[in-house]
Amino acid sequence: MLKTQKKELDLSPYVVPQHVAIIMDGNGRWAKRRGLPRQAGHRAGAENLRRIVRASVEFGIKVLTIYAFSTENWGRPESEISALMRIFARVLDQEIDQLHAQGVCLHHLGELQGINPKLQDKVRRALEITKNNDRLILNVAFNYGGRAEILHAVRQMLADNVRPEDLTEELFSSYLFTSGLPDPDLVIRTSGELRISNFLIWQAAYAEYYPTPAYWPDFGREDLYAAIVAFNQRDRRYGLVSDDAG
Ligand code: IPE
Ligand code: IPE
Ligand code: MG
Repeated sequence: MLKTQKKELDLSPYVVPQHVAIIMDGNGRWAKRRGLPRQAGHRAGAENLRRIVRASVEFGIKVLTIYAFSTENWGRPESEISALMRIFARVLDQEIDQLHAQGVCLHHLGELQGINPKLQDKVRRALEITKNNDRLILNVAFNYGGRAEILHAVRQMLADNVRPEDLTEELFSSYLFTSGLPDPDLVIRTSGELRISNFLIWQAAYAEYYPTPAYWPDFGREDLYAAIVAFNQRDRRYGLVSDDAG
């Protein structure tokens, strides 16, 4: 089989964001456009993840967070939920060796409770196998919601008897699923939607937002490159005034 030549993408003039987070949206519409069932879109989306993880390693991104299943997604039809769970289990079975070989360290954002126990075991096993890798941290937000995460953190802080006067933003952050990781610099959302959908609502307070019309299964290495280039054109002011403000 003829292998297509990988396009040369020069990142040397650019700063690569340390932490990129992606709302992988549009699988259903991708499938619909092809006259396929939504599940076919989810399968194509899972395939695409492999490409984007590879590209992230290639580009030198240190942390990649992907939104795979939200706490709100439980409201979808049962058949779609079970298809998503099957795909997730299959990805864990089939991709773990490749991920490990690439130096990917898997993290889970969200609650394992409420997920099928067999799938929970697969997740735990994948975390264990890859725990010492440090080339790319891959956070998989699965059964994740930003509000649920904040409540989880508050419950934990109350259980730990954190005193109100000791509560700082740093301490609060340390109770989130992303504890110890830098905040996302760049949040990409595929499929053209312009909303955050309960994703990293605390951590992304100052992230640069990059919406793109591509459906997730079509979002490739060159699109990720384009997002990094666009990120470099932003002026991150954090509420201050720019250096070149007159
Ligand atoms: C994203 O694609 C995957 C999940 C939310 C699990 P969607 O399934 O939301 O696809 P659209 O938005 O309906 O096209
Ligand atoms: C966000 O996409 C969740 C994931 C990508 C996992 P949704 O498709 O669930 O979000 P809404 O419904 O468009 O806000
Ligand atoms: Mg969607």
